Amino acid sequence: MKAAYLEGNTQPYIVKEIPTPVPTDQEVLIKLEYSAFNQRDIRVQKGIYAGAPLPEGGLAIGSDGYGKVVELGKNADPSWLGKSVVINPGRNWGDNPDAFGPDFTIMGSPDQGTFAEYIAVDQQYIQVKPAHLTEEEAGALPLAGLTTYRAVFTKARLRAGEKVLVTGIGAGTALLALEFAIAAGAEVYVTSGTESKLQRAIAMGAKGGFNYKDEDWATQANAKTGGFDVVLDSASGKGFAKLITVLKPGGRLVFWGGTDGPIENIVPASIYWKNLSILGTTLGNNQEFADMLAFSEKHNIKPVIDKVFPSLAHAQEAAEYLASGAQFGKVVLRNIV
Ligand SMILES: NC(=O)c1ccc[n+]([C@@H]2O[C@H](COP(=O)([O-])OP(=O)(O)OC[C@H]3O[C@@H](n4cnc5c(N)ncnc54)[C@H](OP(=O)(O)O)[C@@H]3O)[C@@H](O)[C@H]2O)c1
Repeated sequence: MKAAYLEGNTQPYIVKEIPTPVPTDQEVLIKLEYSAFNQRDIRVQKGIYAGAPLPEGGLAIGSDGYGKVVELGKNADPSWLGKSVVINPGRNWGDNPDAFGPDFTIMGSPDQGTFAEYIAVDQQYIQVKPAHLTEEEAGALPLAGLTTYRAVFTKARLRAGEKVLVTGIGAGTALLALEFAIAAGAEVYVTSGTESKLQRAIAMGAKGGFNYKDEDWATQANAKTGGFDVVLDSASGKGFAKLITVLKPGGRLVFWGGTDGPIENIVPASIYWKNLSILGTTLGNNQEFADMLAFSEKHNIKPVIDKVFPSLAHAQEAAEYLASGAQFGKVVLRNIV
C-alpha cells in the first residue's frame, strides 16, 4: 500500500510503498477514506512528542481516521465486514476511568497511523460511523471529539446554564469544546488571536469573544460576563495565569494542551484562595468514545472542517498549513494516492 511517510524526525512526508498490514486475531483491516491532522502530528514530525523519536526507518503517523472494513482477523466479529467505521485513537487505556495505565498508546506513533491506504485495528477500538457525519467529518472527529467530550463532561462536569470560556477557538479541539458546551446548555464565550475567528464562533452560537492579543482581554471579559464557571484551554503558556483571573470562585479550569508552551507566573493564592480546580485531561477511554459519538449524533454535532487536502501526496502541505495556525477547525487528508 501507499502511505504518507516520515522517514525520520524533521523529514517531510513522502509517498512511500510500505507493506499492507495483515489483520490478526480480533483485528479488522480498514481501507482508510479520510484522516485528519492534529498538533500531535507536528510534534511527532519534529521529534519532540513526549520525548519519543520516530522509530528507526520511519513511520506512517496519523491519529484520526475513517474508512471501511475490508478484511477480518480470524477471531474478529464477521458483522464488521463492509461497515463504515471511525477509530478510537487511544489504545490500552486500562481499568481506571480517571487516568490511563502504563500500556496506553495513541495510534500513529509508536504504531502505524492513519496517513496510509490501510490500517489494521483491534475491533474494540472501532465504532460505526454516526449517520449525521459526512465521510470527511468522520475522519476529523475522533481525537478532538474524544478529548473535548471528556474535558467538558467527565472533567468539568458542565451543567446547563453555566458560563464557559473556550480559548484559542481556531483550534480543532476548541471548536468541538464550543459545540459540546452549547449542546449542554451552557452560555459560551471564546478567545482567539484573530477577530474573524471570533465572529465565526459567534455565528456558531458563542455569546461573545475576546482577542487574547489585547493586554486587557481578561478585564474586558470579567466586565462583560462577571466571570466564568468553567474555562476550557488547550494553549497553556504565559496566558494561562490570566485564565485564573476570569474564573469565578469555585470555578473549574480544564486543559489538554500546551500549544503556547510552559505555564508561567501563577501566584499560588490566586488558585487556592478562590477554591479553584485546575484539571488536566488527555484523550478518553472506550466508553467515553462511544458516549461522544452518541452525544454528537443526538445533538447533530459535527467537527468544523477548514480544509480537505486531496491525496496522501499533499500531507506535507497539510502539516505546514496546520502549523501556520491559520486554520479554523480541522485539516483533513483524503487517503488516496
Ligand atoms: N491531551 C490530549 O489528549 C490532546 C488532544 C488533542 C490536542 N491536544 C493539544 O491541544 C492543543 C490544541 O490541539 P489542536 O489539534 O486542536 O490544535 P490546532 O487545531 O492546531 O489549533 C491551534 C490553535 O491554537 C490557538 N492558540 C495558539 N496560541 C494561543 C494562545 N497563546 N492562546 C490561546 N490560543 C492559542 C490558535 O487559536 P486562534 O487561531 O483562535 O488564536 C490556533 O488556531 C495542542 O497543544 C495539542 O497538542 C491534546
